[in-house]
Amino acid sequence: MKNSILIAMLLLFPFLGILAQKTEELALTPPMGWNSWNKFGCDINEKLIREAADALVSSGMNKAGYEYIVIDDCWQIDRKPDGTIVVDQTRFPSGIKSLADYIHSKGLKFGIYSCAGRKTCQQRPGSNGYEVIDANTYASWGVDYLKYDWCNSEGINPVKAYTDMSRALANSGRPIVFSMCEWGSSRPWSWAQNVGHLWRTTGDIQDCWDCKRDWGGMGWTTILDLQVGLEKFAGPGHWNDPDMLEVGNGHMKYNEYIAHFSFWCLLAAPLMAGNDLGNMNDSIKNILLNRDAIAINQDKAGIQGKKVYDESDFEIWTKPLQNGDTAIIFFNRNERKFDFPALWEAAGIIGNLKVYDVWQHKNIGTTQQLKSFSIDGHSVLFFRLSK
Ligand code: GLA
Repeated sequence: MKNSILIAMLLLFPFLGILAQKTEELALTPPMGWNSWNKFGCDINEKLIREAADALVSSGMNKAGYEYIVIDDCWQIDRKPDGTIVVDQTRFPSGIKSLADYIHSKGLKFGIYSCAGRKTCQQRPGSNGYEVIDANTYASWGVDYLKYDWCNSEGINPVKAYTDMSRALANSGRPIVFSMCEWGSSRPWSWAQNVGHLWRTTGDIQDCWDCKRDWGGMGWTTILDLQVGLEKFAGPGHWNDPDMLEVGNGHMKYNEYIAHFSFWCLLAAPLMAGNDLGNMNDSIKNILLNRDAIAINQDKAGIQGKKVYDESDFEIWTKPLQNGDTAIIFFNRNERKFDFPALWEAAGIIGNLKVYDVWQHKNIGTTQQLKSFSIDGHSVLFFRLSK
């Protein structure tokens, strides 16, 4: 008897450890901000990051909810003999602390990037074996968000690697959102609920509808398809991350960016803009600043939307909202414009509800009045339904 209690305690011990480490009460709604990678890759420096922070405020995005400025890969260059990370002095001559101070002085939060492997994806020093030193360094700089990648991780156990950093962050004395970028390889949604606040579900997004790169990059509709079935794993403080936004990066049409953004809102995905904020035209601003769409993304119930109807190129997706409303997307995946029946019942919508158009920002009728829709090619209709 005594032995079985001992064995049970030994088995539970690592699990209790996992429960104890993540800083709770962070990311209770999907994180919103900007990250340098999708647009700038490794070509970053402190001036560019400061300007992104300035633009996040001057564009109105901060007021709309975007708060994190995250430097992705390529800010780090080496380690000192004592193990502390060395910042690339030519690109960040004032140091990371001063950049973090600047970002905080604008009322924003500051995020940084590292990797659970031995090196980052761009062959910079990774955090494997340096978790505690790095977490303490980040805390001393005022880091609020860590994106933690998975390159050069051969032979490393993902649960241990991400748990080690999660614990190091929790012990650093500073609340830091932990964004796991493990690409879905080990199905992190099934084990990371108490380890990270968000976890990538796929390889890297590309600025295209459905392209595929031989190294694993893919267009946003391919990523969308890979979210089916993951909805039950998301909720306040623990989100599926279908990767950062490509809105405004220039290789898709306006309608396609609207569809991409609408779906990221419906999926309760983190909204990390990935474009050049200082050079946005009004139509791109109009997408990223859509407060009706953002309200659906940031809904406090934190329910990830899901696909409820799928018939060749026509899909319907819904997301229940905290006040009893429902967000709904009618999706035309075909390149050509089509008329589609308004299949409310097939989508689980019962009764006569008011239909508010999230992109026109107005009521357009009721579910009983609206019997069909004409939807442009590669486009969505995005509605909020209420009693
Ligand atoms: C991986 C990640 C990307 C980005 C790059 C940086 O590919 O998935 O989001 O962080 O590394 O090297």
